[in-house]
Amino acid sequence: MDTRMDAAATDLKDLQAALMAAVERAANLSELEEARLAALGKKGRIPELMQRLGSMKPEERRSFGQAVNTVKEAVSAALEARKQVLQQLAVAEKIAAERADITLPVREGADQLGRLHPLTRVFEEITAIFEAMGFTVAEGPDIETDDNNFNKLNIPAEHPARQSHDTFYFNEKPDGTRLLLRTHTSPVQVRTMLRQAPPIRIIAPGRVYRCDSDQTHTPMFHQIEALVIDENTHMGHLKWTIEQMCKAYFEVEDVRIRLRASHFPFTEPSMEVDIGAEAIGKPGKWLEIGGAGMVHPNVLANCGIDPERYQGFAFGFGLDRMAMLKYAIPDLRAFFGGDMRWLRHYGFSVLQV
Ligand code: DAH
Repeated sequence: MDTRMDAAATDLKDLQAALMAAVERAANLSELEEARLAALGKKGRIPELMQRLGSMKPEERRSFGQAVNTVKEAVSAALEARKQVLQQLAVAEKIAAERADITLPVREGADQLGRLHPLTRVFEEITAIFEAMGFTVAEGPDIETDDNNFNKLNIPAEHPARQSHDTFYFNEKPDGTRLLLRTHTSPVQVRTMLRQAPPIRIIAPGRVYRCDSDQTHTPMFHQIEALVIDENTHMGHLKWTIEQMCKAYFEVEDVRIRLRASHFPFTEPSMEVDIGAEAIGKPGKWLEIGGAGMVHPNVLANCGIDPERYQGFAFGFGLDRMAMLKYAIPDLRAFFGGDMRWLRHYGFSVLQV
């Protein structure tokens, strides 16, 4: 019996070596699967040996069973190890074989069909220009208090300037105050000064509202406000800043700026800003782009800034108008018409730089 067991043991060793060799030979995952089936599959060598156990005597069965199990474990471990290696190999081969031709033109998809509204584009352009000059972007709500939109800007109730603003008011509250849709971006100046001590250098682009509608007016439009406050800020800085902005925005070497005396309650002196129309290829004319001035001492004081120590400038330009000028868009109302044909024509691809 001992010799028989020895012979069986030698057979098992040979079998294990043969099965392991098959596992090692497997050059890819499907060959490995074949090796697995040959060893452990229903009709494989090891289950086949297990079946013999039934016809063995108990003591023979135990030692043979253990020996077969040892082979099974060794083969299983070899299979698992080889599987890891082959899987990594398969990934490496896939990576080496796959190539994306990045020179192919982009297929027409959502990112091609979608368009940025010219205003979004102009907003991004102008923001980038001011950011490069060290400005930050400030924001305020569309729904404002009477105080921020008017009083603090030196426009008290009954001031005639209120009439030109065609304000949308909300219903009066029990305490007598009324909220409104801001008529300009200037209340963001107020909010900024109340929150932050000088030096201040901000721009505030945003929506504004006035009860007005015709070919060149819509009840909602856009402005961009700028505010600079420091100890020595003067009108030279104001003019230089506007010049820099216009040169960068209209992408021209030089631009002529004309400051016309005007009146705003929140600035002193106040001026209307025109640029030479040659900036948009139409020499000989002036184009008005907005209002500007040195911040009125009352406004500084209203916002908790000492006018004896600080001074500065502000301006407010029409963003829609700036977009119309640069991109030769004739009708303001079409900006807000939601017409896809218009957007396809005047809009910008998201990928366009
Ligand atoms: N807020 C003014 C308007 O909407 C525009 C304006 C003029 C803003 C002069 C300013 C400024 O900051 O200094 O009519």
